[in-house]
Amino acid sequence: MATIIGGVATTHVPSIGKAIADKKQNDPYWRPFFRGFDYVHGWLAKEKPDVAVVFYNDHGLNFFLDKLPTFAVGAAKEYRNEDEGWGIPVSRSIAGDPDLSWHLINALVEDEFDITMCQDMLIDHAVTIPMALMWPGENWPVRIVPVDINTVQHPLPSLKRCLKLGQSIGRALESYPQDLRVMVVGTGGLSHQLDGPRAGFINKEFDQLCLDKIVAEPETLARYSIHDWVKESGAQGVEFLNWMAMRGALTGRVSELHRNYHIPISNTAAATVVYGNAKEVQRKAA
Ligand SMILES: [Fe+2]
Repeated sequence: MATIIGGVATTHVPSIGKAIADKKQNDPYWRPFFRGFDYVHGWLAKEKPDVAVVFYNDHGLNFFLDKLPTFAVGAAKEYRNEDEGWGIPVSRSIAGDPDLSWHLINALVEDEFDITMCQDMLIDHAVTIPMALMWPGENWPVRIVPVDINTVQHPLPSLKRCLKLGQSIGRALESYPQDLRVMVVGTGGLSHQLDGPRAGFINKEFDQLCLDKIVAEPETLARYSIHDWVKESGAQGVEFLNWMAMRGALTGRVSELHRNYHIPISNTAAATVVYGNAKEVQRKAA
């Protein structure tokens, strides 16, 4: 059976890709952020995941405002990255796992999630930058199942709905008959706003609340409306929806193994976390 080994969440600001390309990891500006990945690298080397289910938001590369699904799940053999116009290098393609994708898609539809299924899907910096951060300078040793959540065009799905989406995927992963080691990834956030009178807005206190509550009390965060979330976290802080889905997919006893919070990266509050997911023995036996 598949095992959900844990989760990683990280910001995905495009300028990180440029910093990687220019080898600026040890520059004073970048060092506190990149050092936050030392623990992640050790954890991944120890845990050796086969597959990563990546919750992210497309920024107009694959979907645009004319057709924008609320939830889209990749079912491709391979996911291509293309030039997004940010000046960051186009990354290598990433291998998919269509069998697992279809298992998750079937389970989600069975669970009444009306998702869009994508047998051809481009992935943008919201997937490739976290991959490059997690596995720098080497072939990425996992297959992925990308799960895109609309954080771009309102109405957005609620935090509660995204938590439930993750929970549905978590249950589906647990029922997958292959012996796979699966990690879940949430990308984006934390607080930031790119435009309007509040451009550059960062809310450190609210970010800390999110990082504290998401481990053991994600339901507390799920009570926020999207409008209240924008108020507290900025217009693009809604990328936390990806974190909520990631957290939902951790079905066992969740613990924070690592946290790095650094402001700012570009105009974003950057956070990197690792969560363990121990099996709930009692729940399994019940
Ligand atoms: Fe983003």
